Amino acid sequence: MSSTEGLNIEHCPVGDIVPMHPEMLRCPAVMNRRLREEAPVFHDPMSGIYFISRYADVVAMAQDPATFSSVMPGSASRAVNSDDQEVLDLMRSGYPNVPTMLTQDPPLQRRYRKFVDGAFSPSSLKALEPFIEQTSHSLIDGFAAAGQCEFLDTFGVPLPLRVIASQLGTPVEDLPLLRKWTEAFIGNLSQQLDREGTIAAAKNILEFQQYFVAKMDERRASPREDILSQVVNASIDGEKPLDNAECLSMLSQILVAGNETTAASITEGIWLLIQNPDQYALIKNDPSPAMISRFVEEVLRYSSPSANMFRRTTREVTLHGVTIPENSVCFARFASANQDEEAFANAAEFNIMRDNLKNHVAFGKGIHHCLGAALARREMNIGFKVIFSRLQNFSLAPGAEEPDFSPNALLHGLTALEVAFELVE
Ligand code: HEM
Repeated sequence: MSSTEGLNIEHCPVGDIVPMHPEMLRCPAVMNRRLREEAPVFHDPMSGIYFISRYADVVAMAQDPATFSSVMPGSASRAVNSDDQEVLDLMRSGYPNVPTMLTQDPPLQRRYRKFVDGAFSPSSLKALEPFIEQTSHSLIDGFAAAGQCEFLDTFGVPLPLRVIASQLGTPVEDLPLLRKWTEAFIGNLSQQLDREGTIAAAKNILEFQQYFVAKMDERRASPREDILSQVVNASIDGEKPLDNAECLSMLSQILVAGNETTAASITEGIWLLIQNPDQYALIKNDPSPAMISRFVEEVLRYSSPSANMFRRTTREVTLHGVTIPENSVCFARFASANQDEEAFANAAEFNIMRDNLKNHVAFGKGIHHCLGAALARREMNIGFKVIFSRLQNFSLAPGAEEPDFSPNALLHGLTALEVAFELVE
């Protein structure tokens, strides 16, 4: 296998870059700049994927689902992406992976979204605000006195997890299960699992299916005020309600798309403050909702946890002189687009005062624009408001090494963040 190890990524021939190498997935900034400048459509011979890296092209792709489909062929569409016989046998005993919102094209994609739009409407989200605020406080209560914590595990992950669990109507004691299953889906998406890891992920995904099918039966018998009841009982435009496989696909997307991404952005937000004391000073001087909202948008642009998303060409496409054959897998590179100098002046700078903050594509663009964008924004705005009201002067915890990012083909985020802080008087 050709490798990026030992390559000087700044100066090697662009064709030698291996974008799916774990090092490139961990720290993609230099590679992304070079691909935007020298190979905006880059065909990776190892994975076969076409990497589309410039802002304008990523936006155009996201707005053209007729050419760039979200329905993946063959193995990429399976719940667990493996040809291993044991994994295939395991998954055969479960429900098939039905393409729904994220993995579907219009008109079916719009149809599925209608089932959950109500749960993410402005009025439903407004009603959630007190819960988000109270959860933020109780998480901080758990670690404030220690003066330091591992932030991802103690705040970043549990805040969105508790919010989504409350929305799904899952009891608090089952939160570790939700976390375990989310990690199984993410591990599978990472395309970095070995055989043992893939089998473990398959077992966990089956466990997720069994758990939620039982809950769905309960909600069909006695509906409650939660998303689960809404998804299983809704009948849109007089059609029959969704079946179990369709519901499981929607739930897994809400879990994975909702938890890991928001956790990654909240955690990277604190790391960005530590690295950019001038920007932190702006917020300390003026922790108003308007300023926190500026901070949140720039954190979203900068962290872009949903870094790459799959598309499949429905016809031959020629872009920047590269001909992409029909049925090719492409990556819409949202994180790279958010670092494009053509779209954001001094894009590598973390600057909460930039004038086009909201032009970022961290939540995608067009028909697949994130279902949970308004929820994630609320979680981040309220979460950071509570954090800034109670904790200050963040730094890396004594003795802690610089945090590292996990290698994942689609999602980008820190593996942990050991942080020290002082209490606000
Ligand atoms: C910071 C947090 C988040 C980020 C950065 C993010 C990012 C994204 C992006 C880039 C897309 C578009 C994917 C594409 O074009 O293929 C997307 C779609 C989606 N997101 Fe999010 N997301 C976040 C939070 C959430 C939350 C909280 C939920 C739900 C609770 C959620 C659920 C979804 C779903 C279901 C889709 C698919 C929508 C469709 O295809 O119609 N996301 N998200």
